[in-house]
Amino acid sequence: MVFCKLICADVRDGMRTIEDGSIDLVITSPPYNVGKEYEVGVSREEYTEMIFDVCKEFKRVLKPDGRFCCNVPFTMGSHSVTRLVMWEWETALLEAGLTIRDYIVWDQSNSGNDTAWGSWKSASSPWLRHKAEVLLIGYNEQWKKMHKGESSISSRDFTRWTLDIWTMACARSKFHPAVFPEELPRRCIHLFSYVGDVVLDPFSGAGTTLKVARDLRRNSIGIDQSEAYCEESKERIGFCQGTIDNSVKFIYEKISGEEL
Ligand SMILES: C[S@@+](CC[C@H](N)C(=O)[O-])C[C@H]1O[C@@H](n2cnc3c(N)ncnc32)[C@H](O)[C@@H]1O
Repeated sequence: MVFCKLICADVRDGMRTIEDGSIDLVITSPPYNVGKEYEVGVSREEYTEMIFDVCKEFKRVLKPDGRFCCNVPFTMGSHSVTRLVMWEWETALLEAGLTIRDYIVWDQSNSGNDTAWGSWKSASSPWLRHKAEVLLIGYNEQWKKMHKGESSISSRDFTRWTLDIWTMACARSKFHPAVFPEELPRRCIHLFSYVGDVVLDPFSGAGTTLKVARDLRRNSIGIDQSEAYCEESKERIGFCQGTIDNSVKFIYEKISGEEL
């Protein structure tokens, strides 16, 4: 049996409830602080403080051979001010004492085409249209797993997914403005974890990582501050229906800051 635990809380409150050295793999796409509905009113300073706090918590909760896959854009911003979002996360991860081992470029070029050209057919002020993001791949103290376990990846997928460019279309959801495709956590889980490992998504949104972890027989913990997204995740993952064979234990907790 595996467990699937969803915590509805601010990420820092939720992370505090997770035991030291208990996580095998973090997979997440954090907020980028670009004015999405779930980050209204967060100042640049608050955002920076939050990512440094969260990365410190990654360091604490990851096992010594624990790993992370953090999906971020290279840059973000308006066309006059460019923010180096990847660099912001790299800095926070390294400052926390974690090691970045590699980068996977997520090529989204098969997604819909936008038309923000800047200056059309003119060198006056052309804008680059972003069709790639990155996965920062890293670990806590050592990359090589300390124990043997059951891997679940096929030879064909191993050959393809150990290449550092992954081409995947973006996903869309009626309920959430920024989901990643199931294929993204599916590849990370198969490639970087054993069956029965514990996967954490500290910004779990509509529950994509948890759903895939459940399907691939991994334990999972998700945290999201939004009650609406948590409710959507519960529905999507099957918290209410359960599984026919009772192979998953579902746990839901709602934590408010004052309770801690
Ligand atoms: C990019 S989305 C993640 C989407 C997810 N990967 C999926 O496929 O559904 C980022 C999520 O972080 C959550 N979030 C933002 N700030 C947070 C905070 N301080 N604490 C907890 N969750 C937060 C948002 O509610 C949002 O759902």
